[in-house]
Amino acid sequence: MEKARVGIIGTGGISHAHMTGYKAIPDRVDVAAVCDIDEEKVKAYATKFNVPRWYTDYNEMLAKENLDAVSVTTWNAAHKGAAIAAMRAGANVICEKPMAMNAVEAQEMYDVSKETGKVLQIGFVRRYGADAAMLKKFIDAGTLGDIYYAKATYLRRSGCPGGWFGDIRYSGGGPLIDLGVHVMDLVRYLAGCPKPVSAYGVTYNNLGPDRASGAKSNLGYESNQTKSKYEFNVEDFTSAMIRFDNGMTLTVEASFNLNIKQDRGDIELFGTKGGTKITDGAEFFTDMNGEFINITPASKSVFEFTPSFNAEIAHFIDCVQNGVPCRAPAEDGVILMKMIDAIYESARTGHEALITY
Ligand SMILES: NC(=O)c1ccc[n+]([C@@H]2O[C@H](COP(=O)([O-])OP(=O)(O)OC[C@H]3O[C@@H](n4cnc5c(N)ncnc54)[C@H](O)[C@@H]3O)[C@@H](O)[C@H]2O)c1
Repeated sequence: MEKARVGIIGTGGISHAHMTGYKAIPDRVDVAAVCDIDEEKVKAYATKFNVPRWYTDYNEMLAKENLDAVSVTTWNAAHKGAAIAAMRAGANVICEKPMAMNAVEAQEMYDVSKETGKVLQIGFVRRYGADAAMLKKFIDAGTLGDIYYAKATYLRRSGCPGGWFGDIRYSGGGPLIDLGVHVMDLVRYLAGCPKPVSAYGVTYNNLGPDRASGAKSNLGYESNQTKSKYEFNVEDFTSAMIRFDNGMTLTVEASFNLNIKQDRGDIELFGTKGGTKITDGAEFFTDMNGEFINITPASKSVFEFTPSFNAEIAHFIDCVQNGVPCRAPAEDGVILMKMIDAIYESARTGHEALITY
């Protein structure tokens, strides 16, 4: 089989994880070209990873390079334009999460993937973790029974990434669209992808981007938003409840900054036969022989960054080269954006927002 010719649009932080994924399968992939609007950055990146050609305009790259597959790893506001241009140029696309700025943009991207017949995979990397695999195995075997309630938490005490992440013109929103998206999608994926029908949410911006007067965040971020060219105009905390068509409800909490003891990122699913929680690995709670029991799998069930990204990228190339059904398809990206839109709308109006199809 011929190697897939790959391009990367946006050579910032997360593009390194995509590049590592491609470099892990050198017999199947050739990273032919990379693109970023920042010339110095893309030049250095191409040199570092030995990529033969670099561009500052993705339309030029797409016109010249005849790419089979493209990673879209720009800030959120550029996802739609880059992904659509790549598909129209004949390339299959993996687009980072969140799929777009909102559901209208996401729908346009989805429509183009249908029209062109190109793969449009969304970067829901949590679907490839060992924790997700463990939960999916137990859930699919009926261990939890019918799942009727879930909690998704992604809380940082002091973790605003700063820069464009805090500026709604580039990001589309704050911790909900940046962090909540990961755990909301994971819950929905594990629960068998029910359709959301409404959401009630609140957002706050009480603490702002910078904490402890210039001290580094506990994640090492130095957002210094006040000195940056970007504005901070997104929420710093969101809480919401989402209803699904199968009767399940999900509560989600996401923060860049919140007065909690320590950062937390976990999901919980509650079913008629058992419950589960993943924090650092999976645990199950049920009863047996008249006793409550807690089950901790002996084999590995922790989300690990690099193996999960490598699995995600290898899966994308499998979809492109072997027609494998996509595990994180664009339709799920659209649904996630509908959930996010509804939460922001509800926070604005003070009322539950309905999700329509
Ligand atoms: N899956 C994950 O765990 C994960 C983690 C971090 C970020 N992300 C997502 O990845 C995306 C990028 O985040 P990041 O942290 O790498 O940001 P970043 O700021 O480090 O990189 C983004 C890059 O995109 C470039 N860019 C913007 N518009 C462009 C355009 N039109 N053409 C070419 N390049 C363009 C910028 O110049 C910048 O270099 C975001 O959507 C973010 O939500 C996902």
